[in-house]
Amino acid sequence: MNLLLAEVAQATQRLADAGVPSPRNDAEELAAFVHGVKRGELHSVKDSDFDARYWEVIARREQREPLQHITGRAYFRYLELQVGPGVFVPRPETESVVGWAIDAVRAMDVVEPRIVDLCTGSGAIALALAQEVPRSRVHAVELSEDALVWTRKNMEGSRVDLRQGNALDAFRDLDGHVDLVVSNPPYIPLTEWEYVAPEARDYDPDLALFSGEDGLDLIRGLERTAHRLLRPGGVVVIEHADTQGGQVPWIFTEERGWADAADHPDLNNRPRFATARRAMP
Ligand SMILES: C[S@@+](CC[C@H](N)C(=O)[O-])C[C@H]1O[C@@H](n2cnc3c(N)ncnc32)[C@H](O)[C@@H]1O
Repeated sequence: MNLLLAEVAQATQRLADAGVPSPRNDAEELAAFVHGVKRGELHSVKDSDFDARYWEVIARREQREPLQHITGRAYFRYLELQVGPGVFVPRPETESVVGWAIDAVRAMDVVEPRIVDLCTGSGAIALALAQEVPRSRVHAVELSEDALVWTRKNMEGSRVDLRQGNALDAFRDLDGHVDLVVSNPPYIPLTEWEYVAPEARDYDPDLALFSGEDGLDLIRGLERTAHRLLRPGGVVVIEHADTQGGQVPWIFTEERGWADAADHPDLNNRPRFATARRAMP
């Protein structure tokens, strides 16, 4: 075994002892980051090239600083995004939300589908949809100026229409003309603060995580926003916590102008997002 692989094994143990959920993955990712190689190329780093800064970044990860804050990048579907303090790190479970949204838009057979991403954060959802849905017209809104520093970097050169503001009254100019509304809003109940992983609790902004006692304050408001924005037959898809699958679809009721409300699991088979169709008049 070369020196680097031996150090990675030792770092893996240190991260495991610190309670890091995926210690080997993170030890390897950080070794690749410090040495400027891909993970699959770690064996090719010569002993003489071992960089002692590896132990500095391992110490930061041991303190539960997110891997993505240390490397400054996050992967989401086919994208590499820039992230850091002030912006929510996109999560793998949100990739399923985007997958469903893409299928829904394709099934509509609209030539230039209009898509709105509410609460865009790093821009992950909006950028993935712009990349993967040809000829889509994608709009995104974010409230936090700190987050927008990162959104603007990620969206530079993209065709996403990015706006700063409150999702609850955003895009009045698009009322009734949107084919798909998608959102991964804050949804953690305030009462669960102490159970949130340190990486999220101490590094993701509070505005990105929490939304009232039961976590559903913003989602209740977004239901009205989605209703206002969508054309009849348009669809909404909203991510939620794995404990909220029995609640969120019930916000999109027939009496409020919705049809086909349903809940869906993520790749780990946990309840993850609700969908509904704006009823025909
Ligand atoms: C859970 S993060 C998700 C970010 C991104 N959509 C993603 O999936 O990675 C929620 C985002 O909503 C933003 N936010 C919270 N309240 C908002 C509001 N009322 N209007 C617009 N954005 C809001 C937060 O700043 C944060 O960036």
